[in-house]
Amino acid sequence: MKILVLGGGGFVGSHLVERLSQDPDLKVSSFDSNHEKLVEALGERGGVSIIDGDIAVDLGKVQSLIRGSDLVIDLIAHANPSLYVSNPLDVVDLNFHMNLEIVDACSKWCKDIVQFSSCEVYGPTLGRTEAFSEDHSALITGPVLETRWIYASAKQLLERIVAAKGGRGDFLYAIIRPFNFIGPRIDYLPREGDMGGPRVFSHFMAALLAERALYLVNGGLQMRSYTDIRDAVEGIMIVIRGLGGRFRGQVVNVGNPGNEMSIKGLALLMKEIYAELTGKPSRSEMLEISGEQFYGKGYADCDRRIPDASKLVSAGWEPKYGLRDAVKNAMGYYIGKLKA
Ligand code: UGA
Repeated sequence: MKILVLGGGGFVGSHLVERLSQDPDLKVSSFDSNHEKLVEALGERGGVSIIDGDIAVDLGKVQSLIRGSDLVIDLIAHANPSLYVSNPLDVVDLNFHMNLEIVDACSKWCKDIVQFSSCEVYGPTLGRTEAFSEDHSALITGPVLETRWIYASAKQLLERIVAAKGGRGDFLYAIIRPFNFIGPRIDYLPREGDMGGPRVFSHFMAALLAERALYLVNGGLQMRSYTDIRDAVEGIMIVIRGLGGRFRGQVVNVGNPGNEMSIKGLALLMKEIYAELTGKPSRSEMLEISGEQFYGKGYADCDRRIPDASKLVSAGWEPKYGLRDAVKNAMGYYIGKLKA
């Protein structure tokens, strides 16, 4: 089977492609604008066809790659909240318009698709305490001037279009909603003074390495459920394998409800692990900052986001890595790089 991973050079993509490449029955291609992470992951092994390009410029190339594949895994997206507020139209261009071109090409040539969406579609917490369920929880967004929700809106509409096209028989599909994956090669380490940008782990990691302050946005009491990338990849593989069976036409949360932690708790845990891994106590302090100062006007947040993982668990998914293991594995990667 020929699998085309669009966005295979990113954090999730590089881990997923590495895993797919271990299956001798699969012929895997990756299209992305940057493949450094994937090349690092594959090392000497190779075995993956790597195609460099920018979908905004090379759409025709992407369309012909889709035509030549059996299954498309679409990971192409911007996923950084400061961009949602500073450049909302760029987010819509890539996360909606470009992705729609991919879905349309899959429709035209009857190619199956695993579409990556986001846990962000569940939106703000608004007092909801239950775990978010794929088929029962409401997808809520905030006011239009809370620009952050443009990302979730784009993702949600894309999900609905994939489901509608799949529903009329254009292709087999599944939609994946990742919940705060964490692991080596996540994002990039921001420089001093860079606000917003990558995800919280990368901000804290960079701050710890440079002995700078860790910023707790709005006090850091908001919670996230972190999923180790190794568990996440196994979950995604279960969905891919079940595309013609139990996961046909399904929306699937890939998230570990057992790994919930506040952002302040994450900061303390990372300081502790930093000391353990480097043998010296962290000198980074923790400072509170407002969401607007950190990300810009239009930022809003979700206070709590727990996945209902029962769909995946009932298909045999058993996450193995607790939060400490997940964070330690990811931090070990960056600290190891520093020592190398
Ligand atoms: C981000 C993306 O926007 C989502 O699309 C994506 O699905 C999600 O990551 C994910 O990894 O699955 P978010 O959950 O807000 O969404 O993740 P972070 O950007 O890592 O932020 C988590 C929390 O930490 C937020 O409340 C943020 O305000 C806070 N934060 C971030 C800090 O307190 N300090 C920082 O230095 C950075």
